Amino acid sequence: MLPSMFDRRDFIRAVAAAGGAVAGSGLLAACADEIPHEHRLLTGPDLATGGGTVTRYPLRIPQTVSPSGLTLQAAPGSASILPGKTTTAWMYNGQLPGPSLVTQSGVAYTGVTFQNGLSQESIIHWHGLLVESQYDGHPRQVVGPGSAYSYGLKVAQRAALDWYHPHPHMKTGEQVYRGLAGALIVRDAVDTGLAGNPLGLPVGPDEIPLIIRDASFDSRGNFQFSNKSSGFWGNTPLVNGTFSPYLGVNKGVYRFRLLNGCNARVLRLALGNGGAFTLIGNDGGLLDRVYTVNELVAAPGERFDILLDFRALATGAAIMLRDPDAKWNILEFRGTGVAGTGSLPAGSLSSITPLSNPVTTRRFTFDGMTRINGKVYAINAIEFTVPFDTTERWTFVTNGNGPHPVHVHGAVFQVLARTGGRGRLFDWERGWKDTVLVNDGETVDVLIRFTAHRGLYLMHCHQLAHEDAGMMANFEVA
Ligand code: C2O
Ligand code: CU
Ligand code: CU
Repeated sequence: MLPSMFDRRDFIRAVAAAGGAVAGSGLLAACADEIPHEHRLLTGPDLATGGGTVTRYPLRIPQTVSPSGLTLQAAPGSASILPGKTTTAWMYNGQLPGPSLVTQSGVAYTGVTFQNGLSQESIIHWHGLLVESQYDGHPRQVVGPGSAYSYGLKVAQRAALDWYHPHPHMKTGEQVYRGLAGALIVRDAVDTGLAGNPLGLPVGPDEIPLIIRDASFDSRGNFQFSNKSSGFWGNTPLVNGTFSPYLGVNKGVYRFRLLNGCNARVLRLALGNGGAFTLIGNDGGLLDRVYTVNELVAAPGERFDILLDFRALATGAAIMLRDPDAKWNILEFRGTGVAGTGSLPAGSLSSITPLSNPVTTRRFTFDGMTRINGKVYAINAIEFTVPFDTTERWTFVTNGNGPHPVHVHGAVFQVLARTGGRGRLFDWERGWKDTVLVNDGETVDVLIRFTAHRGLYLMHCHQLAHEDAGMMANFEVA
């Protein structure tokens, strides 16, 4: 992955040494010459908001690993997130976010072990991976402190950005919030897999995961958290666990694999220069072709595969990834002036066979903050049974207290229609999805077909406080 221009701790020390340089613009001007050039580059007026002075830190790129023979240990530890402070976090293998797991479609990964080093029950769920029921990380599969769970992950699906996170009943929100989450990338012959890179997509240091989440900190730098069912909203965005990040970008095309890893917050993402995103994929992998969108509305659990073209970005020039609703400058892309590589793909990206002719229609109401179809989650119940390899139409309806990002385990679906509320579908809802945003007043219809495995799976709201409070249902594919 792209090496940082310099070590982050050195940088934090340098900023601390620069002392009051950020306290006022006059001081800033007086001190600027004493700050080494590459450091000075990082402290400047916050152009996107027009006010204040913001120090930015190199974006952390999680280490990439194969899951084969991998032990992921969840345990408390200390993370460097805020400058000069340490944050007690719960992490996989001491990393926040956890390592990025890279897999190939068609490969079976064995010896994948979850080791619980927390003081409470946990289990890993592979969100987006269609695995056998006993390896899905269902809350019934939780293991206690000091215990382990072994997985066999037969990856037999199209390429996508998926992710892994805990799934214990009533504790998912807190465990994810305290740092337990990581990217899981599936590759295949179309998408930069063993068969090469037929679409010429950006790879290596030009393909970067962006796990965006919010957090709040106390004065000592520790996470503040409350799991009240209205949902936890943090006041600070983090990208890959990095506070106030920037990414140095060469004059080329980059691929960003973006995940909304927030507990509850729906992000609206836009570029500060008014530029567009080149959207190539979502939860279920590549779309049929490239779409150009001016903003992305990203609900918790949803993924977005985007290309950004920095070929014309001058040295030191910056483009901000923003959330105009939160008034956040989330990530600054800063031109290095170095020649880069890549181009935007033209024409078709992948083939997507539309589902059709559903044999059954099911209706699910997401009621209040704790129920689906009037019922609070019952871990030992099976609410309904779905026939294997049969297309069904599922209708998701809200009864208030949205937004509800509805997520289904064990299959991907195609979004058919949205009525009420926003009253339309968006380009990032094309193709295959496993999570779809249902706002108050909205009814969303999807076509779904379970073609991977039989067994016990889950449907739930991915607003994690809703999930923990019972907005979840077991079903069986038979
Ligand atoms: Cu991302 Cu059932 O979860
Ligand atoms: Cu999932
Ligand atoms: Cu919800």
